[in-house]
Amino acid sequence: MRILSGIQSSGQLHLGNYYGAIRQFVELQHQGEALYFIANLHALTTVRDPAAARALTRDTAMAFLAFGLDPSRAILFRQSDIPEITELYWILGTVVPLSNLDRAHSYKDKVARGISADFGLFAYPVLMAADILLYGSDVVPVGRDQMQHLEFARDWATKFNIAYVPGFDPADPTGKSTGRPGILKMPEALIQEETAAVPGVDGLKMSKSYDNTIDLFADDAEIQRSIMGIRTDSTPVEAPKPPGTALYQLLQVMLPASEFAEVDRAWREGGKGYGDFKKLLLAAYHHTFDEARARYRALAQDPAEVERILRRGAERARAVAAPVIASVREAVGIER
Ligand code: ADP
Ligand code: TRP
Repeated sequence: MRILSGIQSSGQLHLGNYYGAIRQFVELQHQGEALYFIANLHALTTVRDPAAARALTRDTAMAFLAFGLDPSRAILFRQSDIPEITELYWILGTVVPLSNLDRAHSYKDKVARGISADFGLFAYPVLMAADILLYGSDVVPVGRDQMQHLEFARDWATKFNIAYVPGFDPADPTGKSTGRPGILKMPEALIQEETAAVPGVDGLKMSKSYDNTIDLFADDAEIQRSIMGIRTDSTPVEAPKPPGTALYQLLQVMLPASEFAEVDRAWREGGKGYGDFKKLLLAAYHHTFDEARARYRALAQDPAEVERILRRGAERARAVAAPVIASVREAVGIER
């Protein structure tokens, strides 16, 4: 099984990124051939400062490693180190219906939030489909918000195969009965349901664009500020608290089930103030992340090692991509 996913290097990583993405990625490295990349070409749709683009790319790679990604197992690489990506992106673009891009949620959301509506942002899903299809991925773990992008990748793989594989039957993509398998393989999404949406300190979905994050690698004082600043209501200490709020959900995400059951009881009984619950969350945060945070700081002292890992990853990823891009080139008539 080939597993592939990417994270954009477009900002400081937060709890939502960990529970919605990184944690799954690291766990999955033992279940197949895992390829994980830093989507630094996608990040150019929002990061316009070259120094920031460089730093965020490196920081995102360090985060993967700090959380236990083993570069001798999984392939960790930078998207921009793979020239075949932009080649497949273009070729794929020739079979992408404009009407699909017109109804892309993430594009509409981003434009609504004030990101400029340029071609790169519009074409974002095509680059993402190229990421997925270039390596013949079987499984793509992503957050729920990326589901539509994955459906697009599947639709466009089918369109490409219909256009370029004589006798291809979309009902039989692996060619079991026709003997005509597609060149581009159909990937499956893998969504982690329980933590599908981690709330931010204001109760909205945690996102760097809402300025409501609890970061993974900020310093202790900032973490304390974020957690103590989680929005709560004015329910008195003695009274039962309304469940389902941001603080409640964050405790649910962060605590082991048995500990959360205790918290849930205290929450519903009353007698404990929000400040106490926040302290519990802060302790859980440090308990969960301090080891990774220390590894991250150590990696920051050794940028050459991080660079070496990424270059080696790119070589391995290009080797996986080579047969796919060769078949694509031949199918469209641009072989070398
Ligand atoms: P942001 O919303 O901060 O811009 P990204 O869109 O870059 O984050 O998300 C990177 C990854 O983290 C994606 O796989 C996304 O689904 C996941 N993710 C981001 N925020 C959350 C959240 N609040 N809850 C769960 N997963 C999230
Ligand atoms: N768009 C994804 C996100 O914002 C990142 C990404 C880029 C990705 N290419 C990908 C995820 C390919 C999975 C597969 O989270």
